[in-house]
Amino acid sequence: MKHLLSIEDLDRATIERICDRAASFATGADREIKKVPALRGHTVLNLFYEASTRTRSSFELAAKRLSADVVNFAASGSSVEKGESLKDTVLTLSAHRPDAIVIRTPWAGSAELISGWTDAAIVNAGDGKHEHPTQALLDVYTLRHRVGDLAGAKIWIVGDVLHSRVARSNILAFQKMGAEVTVCGPPTLIPRGIEAMGCEVRYTLDDLPDADVVYALRMQNERMDQAWIPSLREYATVYQINDRRLLPRQVLMHPGPVNRGVELSGGVVDSPQAAILEQVQAGVVVRMAVLYEVLAGARASAPATPEPQP
Ligand code: CP
Repeated sequence: MKHLLSIEDLDRATIERICDRAASFATGADREIKKVPALRGHTVLNLFYEASTRTRSSFELAAKRLSADVVNFAASGSSVEKGESLKDTVLTLSAHRPDAIVIRTPWAGSAELISGWTDAAIVNAGDGKHEHPTQALLDVYTLRHRVGDLAGAKIWIVGDVLHSRVARSNILAFQKMGAEVTVCGPPTLIPRGIEAMGCEVRYTLDDLPDADVVYALRMQNERMDQAWIPSLREYATVYQINDRRLLPRQVLMHPGPVNRGVELSGGVVDSPQAAILEQVQAGVVVRMAVLYEVLAGARASAPATPEPQP
């Protein structure tokens, strides 16, 4: 695999290979992530045009655990603020000869676009409302640990589906793994025609007890036209996942950051059903596996061996 641009490009076998390799990087009962020399001599450039806590920190940790050199670039504070274009920024930074560029932007299709401007492998860390493929991969990885085989599992994705790149990638990934996906939210936050992706659509939580996994989405205020969305208070009244609505047997997921008291009550965020911090933890090994796949996967299939400790 030269790039990771979307889940749409991956088949089930590739998703399983990435998850298996991710598991090989976490060893022992406490799933410690040892540093390995797999990408020594490689350079990974993290190029972020949007805010990020989880994705950026875990890509940096992943590259460092693989012994790659890492350059972190945030558009804020760079010459982007002087008007430098995306293309000139990519061409300029490509002059440093990075082997991989991890990119997040607010523009759908930008990851694919820049793959034509550089020789580096491109990893999409979120492009506008289009896709967030590594989030979907780490969510599949997390669910393999929580529920096992996803064939036939009933997964409800609840909330602001319209603005969510996570929803799009996760619907595709969960279905490729055999799960039955339902999306639920206010009609104005469910994209028209989403049934064509093969998922059920619900506008109330009445049938939520059917779900094995409840995947709540963040209300993305920064992407909304305030004229036609429900207020956060109205949203919380009808759609908030709280201890009255979540059954003890259900697994709760959220990509973060959580708006506590809006899409989730504080109580369920901190409950044992919540896999939210496991998702964050999975982010490092899954992103290690993705970087390994795009930079070394074609020439090496065996898991990398840990570096000798000093
Ligand atoms: N899930 C996710 O993409 O979080 P960040 O925006 O903090 O990276």
